[in-house]
Amino acid sequence: MATAKLKIGRNELEIPIIKGTENEKALDISKLRASSGGIVTLDTGYKNTGATTSAITFLNGEEGILRYRGYPIEQLAEKSNFLEVAYLLINGELPTKKEFKDFEHEITTHTLVHEDIKKFLDAYPERTHPMGQLCAMICSLSAFYPESLNPYRSDEEINNTVIRLIAKMPTLVSWIHKRAKGHPAMYPDNSLGYCENFLKMFFGLPTEEYEVDPVIANAIDKLLILHADHEQNCSTSTVRIVGSSHATLYAAISAGISALWGPRHGGANQSVIEMLQNIQNDGGNLQKWLDKAKDKSDPFRLMGFGHRVYKNFDPRAKIIKKASDEVLKKLKIDDPLLNIAKRMEEAALKDEYFVKRKLYPNVDFYSGIIYKAIGFPTEMFTVLFALGRLPGWIAQWKEMMKDQQPIGRPRQIYIGENERKYTAISRRKKK
Ligand code: ACO
Repeated sequence: MATAKLKIGRNELEIPIIKGTENEKALDISKLRASSGGIVTLDTGYKNTGATTSAITFLNGEEGILRYRGYPIEQLAEKSNFLEVAYLLINGELPTKKEFKDFEHEITTHTLVHEDIKKFLDAYPERTHPMGQLCAMICSLSAFYPESLNPYRSDEEINNTVIRLIAKMPTLVSWIHKRAKGHPAMYPDNSLGYCENFLKMFFGLPTEEYEVDPVIANAIDKLLILHADHEQNCSTSTVRIVGSSHATLYAAISAGISALWGPRHGGANQSVIEMLQNIQNDGGNLQKWLDKAKDKSDPFRLMGFGHRVYKNFDPRAKIIKKASDEVLKKLKIDDPLLNIAKRMEEAALKDEYFVKRKLYPNVDFYSGIIYKAIGFPTEMFTVLFALGRLPGWIAQWKEMMKDQQPIGRPRQIYIGENERKYTAISRRKKK
């Protein structure tokens, strides 16, 4: 095995270099603290730190490559479907015909959600953000399936939780939306496919027939596939960390949803549309907004641009851009925001600031345009991201549990006060 040498004073340490199947190399510092007399590494934001080995997703940010279990994202988006991709991520291989049928049957027969969940939803103020409700509802499912709390749960119990999560999330999402609209909750129709059923529960009404548009169902299916996993991002790492304490999978997924909510992560898809609307209301002055994004004294960033790992086009953004053209054409929508988005992309890709920092449009830049065209409220965009990311979170959690990884517990370098004596309140002076 190749090694690297690390010299600390007179002490020379051999650090093993491990190599992944795609020739990615890492210094294995798992024994560093013990062999160096307490020295740890410091890497805020984990920009240089691999938190785990993983056999699920391969991502090469320089070349814009994304593969699930070895299959290129472009092939999966074109030829597969979301449930098949979920099976692939969670189980490691594409299913046979029978395996797929059984999996689909299990999902479609677990779509109902306990009626008491509606009581929780009823208690929320009208303007509650759906992401807040979704993470609370997913965690609340643990109350209905308390056996999931058992840290020594059997494989069958784990599988039940996995199936329930994938099956019930679309129902929960649609109920959250219906409550916000003041419409009656729609019940699942188990004769429909995953995306068709979701669209019917989301947009349908009990008073009339709802015909699912195959172009829209196909676009949603594609979007869910593209969002299904993205290796060790913020929300996935959160799922792994929470799961590493052996909390129930419902809690780990709920924590992942919370992490995804932020505008620097999945919340960016909502922020992109809000940004484009602001630019439109401001008279479409693109340069002003580009300058704002470049101004270091201004916290504003160009939403939907930049990525921790991609220093090239996000391959998912390319596929989404094409899909959004198809949906807009089918729905005969001429959205002025799309025009602004296209001009914004062109301008940013020519601007020295963005070129130098390799800031390209990411997955969120165009996904919002499709969601908006289909009729999803802006606040629901990140919820749709969560629906797609669910199988990835589950796969990553399962891998971590199978590998019996230790509890996630980073170290720190303390930079606070040294020991000092407690002073009585009467003798304290303001510093
Ligand atoms: N607009 C303006 N400047 C940016 C942007 C942006 N969108 N993104 C990065 N930069 C600048 C930073 O200010 C920094 O400049 P500096 O070197 O002069 O200090 C440089 O580019 C590098 O940025 P970092 O913040 O160090 O990069 P990091 O990897 O930590 O952040 C992130 C990645 C959070 C995605 C960032 O690019 C961003 O905030 N983008 C906008 C939000 C967004 O679209 N998020 C979705 C990401 S995809 C996803 O999570 C699903």
